[in-house]
Amino acid sequence: MNHWHPESWQDKPAKQQAHYPSLEALNETLAQLAQLPPLVTSWEIEALKEKLAAAARGEAFLLQGGDCAENFSDCNSQIVTNKLKILLQMSLLLIHGLSKPVIRVGRIAGQFAKPRSADTETINGVTLPSYRGDLVNGPEFTPEARTPDPVRLLRGYGRAAMTLNFIRALSDCGFADLHHPENWDLDFMSHSPLAKEYRQVVEELSHSLKFMETLGSARNSDLNRVQFFTSHEGLHLHYEQSLTRQVPNRSGYYNLSTHLPWIGFRTAATTDAHIEYFSGIQNPVGVKVGPGMSSQWIQELVERLNPHSEEGKLLFIHRFGVNNIAEGLPPLIQAVKRTGRPVLWVSDPMHGNTESTQNGYKTRHFDNILSELEQAIEIHRSEGTILGGVHFELTGDDVTECIGGARGLDEAGLKRAYKTQVDPRLNYEQALEMALAITHKMGRR
Ligand code: PEP
Ligand code: CO
Repeated sequence: MNHWHPESWQDKPAKQQAHYPSLEALNETLAQLAQLPPLVTSWEIEALKEKLAAAARGEAFLLQGGDCAENFSDCNSQIVTNKLKILLQMSLLLIHGLSKPVIRVGRIAGQFAKPRSADTETINGVTLPSYRGDLVNGPEFTPEARTPDPVRLLRGYGRAAMTLNFIRALSDCGFADLHHPENWDLDFMSHSPLAKEYRQVVEELSHSLKFMETLGSARNSDLNRVQFFTSHEGLHLHYEQSLTRQVPNRSGYYNLSTHLPWIGFRTAATTDAHIEYFSGIQNPVGVKVGPGMSSQWIQELVERLNPHSEEGKLLFIHRFGVNNIAEGLPPLIQAVKRTGRPVLWVSDPMHGNTESTQNGYKTRHFDNILSELEQAIEIHRSEGTILGGVHFELTGDDVTECIGGARGLDEAGLKRAYKTQVDPRLNYEQALEMALAITHKMGRR
């Protein structure tokens, strides 16, 4: 820690990194990136940390969600607004059902790099590097597309900046006005079996809003805009390093590419480069934890990533799978309790529940996702800890990637609109249903 520097990770073994054909070209690109303005500010990051501290105390709730991987081609008005709309709609249901402020964090504006189970992929005797996300290479199975290209780092930065610019503009004006939730309606929503329950909640909230304004207890400026934060897996360490900066009047380094970077399950070994990099930044950081993680390992993560016992600094995002959480989670919770340091517990009920159908579709069953989430709520209750948030892969679009939900999507239905290049996402309806399920299980009603 004493010798930490944005580049000190380079002395440690780094997993899941791209192998560029020309180091010179890579370094040239990184030098350019290092000159570009930051995407977020330290003020925003510190404000998020405070909100996350409230979530850890049970006074707020974190809703983190978005694509498994953003594609450069998804950087368009409709896909971005639909994602914001579904997060806003879910947050309304959660605010209403849990009676708590909801912190909205997208897997957005930078979620471009993916860990893969193998470095290479072989098709018909031809072996090429695996697709590692648009930040690194292209998904097409050709040598040109699959060769990592550093220019993609600049394009990724550009896409992240454009996305964020649009999010900021939308958050600050009519679109995000709580008086007009109809702005967040999705085209296909009116046919949904959940539409009625959603509308009821919106109506109740509108009444409360009017009531508060009549009393004069709500400030208009608070209600005309909403806050969104961004997050992505901090996988590509060269990229993260080049956006890690010092800022005036604060000590330490901030990763200014995103508010909340997280460490993936495959790169969380304490001796590895990712932990080294993350141990030195001031941002709140998430770590995915799951099967095979020992008590000692998670305690070391706490020591390395939250050495000053800061509230809101460290999130453990657990992703065990429906059949493993009951056995796996309690020992980790107990180990963290013994450190005496504060953490925010978050459930990712997606990544332990991925399976393949006979036709080769990667999918997840709605019932398994829901069951893991419900078990997570119960386990934290019985351990006396707080489940302060949820982490989903979802989209505001009408895709068919996960099986089940109110409309009973079955295996045969997956092919209608299966669009993901990596993990299957909840569609807008399944996402709303999940938000309702959380309020039914955790809420006051
Ligand atoms: C992800 O969040 O897309 C991911 C790869 O998760 P995990 O690291 O938990 O497997
Ligand atoms: Co994923």
